[in-house]
Amino acid sequence: MIETNSLTKKYDNGFVAVNDLNIHVYKGDIYGYLGPNGAGKTTTIRMLNGLIQPTNGEILIEKQKTNHNISEIRKMIGVLPESHGYYNWMSGCEYLTFFAKLYEYPRLKLKSRIKEVLEWVGMAEKAHVRIGQYSRGMKQRIGLAKSIIHEPSLIFLDEPTLGLDPQGQKDIQAIIQRLNKENGVTVFITSHLLKEISEICNRVAIVSKGNLIEENSIQNLMGKYQNLSENGTVTLEDIFFYLTKSEENVG
Ligand SMILES: Nc1ncnc2c1ncn2[C@@H]1O[C@H](COP(=O)(O)OP(=O)(O)OP(=O)(O)O)[C@@H](O)[C@H]1O
Ligand SMILES: [Mg+2]
Repeated sequence: MIETNSLTKKYDNGFVAVNDLNIHVYKGDIYGYLGPNGAGKTTTIRMLNGLIQPTNGEILIEKQKTNHNISEIRKMIGVLPESHGYYNWMSGCEYLTFFAKLYEYPRLKLKSRIKEVLEWVGMAEKAHVRIGQYSRGMKQRIGLAKSIIHEPSLIFLDEPTLGLDPQGQKDIQAIIQRLNKENGVTVFITSHLLKEISEICNRVAIVSKGNLIEENSIQNLMGKYQNLSENGTVTLEDIFFYLTKSEENVG
């Protein structure tokens, strides 16, 4: 579904945020993209979405090079960015309508699609309230609704549960799993909540300082790093600390 070859981003100030990255996301994956603050996760997502240009390397989405037909590819992807400017004066319903039209979603299906998505994210009751009056969790929910309004087959979620209360985190997690299971949506997600990631993802990548350290299925990782645990049950957190620490020593 996604393949990158030697993907590199050097910002104008000379800083290399993503270095020679080779990752593979398969159809149907819930793929966790993990790393400490500043590892280059958001930079990678922005390149995959075509929001910023790579300095080097290539990106293939569904085997198509994104530098050739990003506008076609955009129709099949949905994005919940790290920081989003919400349209505070719009109601949730207007916001979704606006984006559905932008994506040229079929007019005949528009009304029922908006209703369906609002129900999925638990925002049907607040559909006609202005976004400016939403709580953070509600904004996050409507942002998730926006990312799936046009029925994309691949979604990018940059810390979708950031700042949410435990119930909100669980709800978003359940929506992601449902989208994946029932609609076959492939999910590329970043989060610092490693317990959450280990519960919903089948595969993960761990990056540090712009470098890929490990890409594997959760199952293989647990086997490979079994010896890290003293009591026999290794967690993703144990593996994350181990791998990002050893990278620090190298760097
Ligand atoms: N526009 C920019 N110009 C220069 N450097 C940048 C720019 N944007 C990001 N960086 C740097 O690139 C590195 C990676 O940033 P990025 O936002 O991709 O990290 P991240 O992994 O998403 O971190 P976080 O977990 O905090 O969201 C950081 O060191 C950051 O300071
Ligand atoms: Mg980020």
